[in-house]
Amino acid sequence: MNSAGLIQSETSEGILTLRINRPDKKNALNLAMYQSLADGLRQADSDDKIRVILIRGGDECFTSGNDLADFLSSPPTGPESPVMQFLDAISEARKPVVAAVNGLAVGVGVTMLLHCDLAYAGTTASFQMPFVNLGLCPEAGSTLLLPRIMGHQRAAELLLLGEPFNAEKAHSLGIITEICQDADVLTTARNKARQLAAQPAAALRLAKELLKRDYAAPLRETIAEEGRQFVARLKSPEAAEALQAFMQRRKPDFSKFS
Ligand code: COA
Repeated sequence: MNSAGLIQSETSEGILTLRINRPDKKNALNLAMYQSLADGLRQADSDDKIRVILIRGGDECFTSGNDLADFLSSPPTGPESPVMQFLDAISEARKPVVAAVNGLAVGVGVTMLLHCDLAYAGTTASFQMPFVNLGLCPEAGSTLLLPRIMGHQRAAELLLLGEPFNAEKAHSLGIITEICQDADVLTTARNKARQLAAQPAAALRLAKELLKRDYAAPLRETIAEEGRQFVARLKSPEAAEALQAFMQRRKPDFSKFS
C-alpha cells in the first residue's frame, strides 16, 4: 500500500510533520493515507529524535474525512484495517500531537483533533461530523470525548444533526485550542510545536499520560466498539443510500427506511 506523496512526512527540529496532500479530493483519506499516518505516528513514538508530531493539511482543506469511494469499494473490516490502526496510533501517541487546520475539517478531520494536545485553526475553518447523515455512526472515540468536553446536548447537536460549524463554535466548545488568522495557522502551530520540542521530553510524556489516565481504558474500548458498529453500519441500506447519493451528487432519501 503506497500513499505516493499523498501523505508527506518531514522531520526537522525534532518535529515530525505529517501533511495530508490530496487537494483534488479535498484531502479525503484513503486506505494508504491512513496507513502512512499510522506508520508515521508509531515511528515517531519509537524515534528519540522526534519529540513532537504536527499534523496539517493544505491551505484550503485540512481533510474531508474518509474517502467515501473507499467505503464502497474497500470498507474497513476490523481492527487491522488502516483506519483503525490510525485511530489506535493517534489515540495512544505518547508524544505531543499538534494540529494545524485550514479550511474544511470533516468527519475524522474533526474527531482526530480530539486526540491532539494542541489544535490551531484559521478564522474561516469549517467543521462537520456527518456520520449519522451518512447512515453511519460516530467514530474515533468521539461518543466518549465530545460529551466529556462539552456535555451531552452540545455533543448530541454536533453528532445527531451533523451540520457544519465554524471556528468560533469549535473554539467555544473546546475542540480547538486557538483561532488564528488563516495565514498564521501553520506558523503558530509550528511555534507551539517548537516550544513543546524544547520541553523536557520525559516530563512531557508523563504529563500527557497523566492527563488521559482516567479515561485511557474506556477510550480504547469506545474506539473499538464504535469501530465494530461502524463496520456493521457500512452494510446498512441507510449507508448505501447516503453513499450512492454522494456519488450521484443528489440528496439522499431516507424516507423508505424505518
Ligand atoms: N471522499 C471521496 N471523495 C471526496 C470526498 C470524500 N470524503 N470529499 C470530496 N471528495 C471529492 C469529490 O467527489 C470531488 O471529486 P471529483 O472532482 O472527482 O468529482 C472532489 O473531491 C471535490 O469535491 P466537491 O464535492 O466537488 O467539493 P465541494 O467544495 O463542493 O464540497 C465537501 C466539499 C467536502 C463539503 C464535499 O465534497 C463533501 O461533503 N464531501 C464528503 C465529506 C464526508 O462526508 N466525509 C466523510 C465523513 S465520515
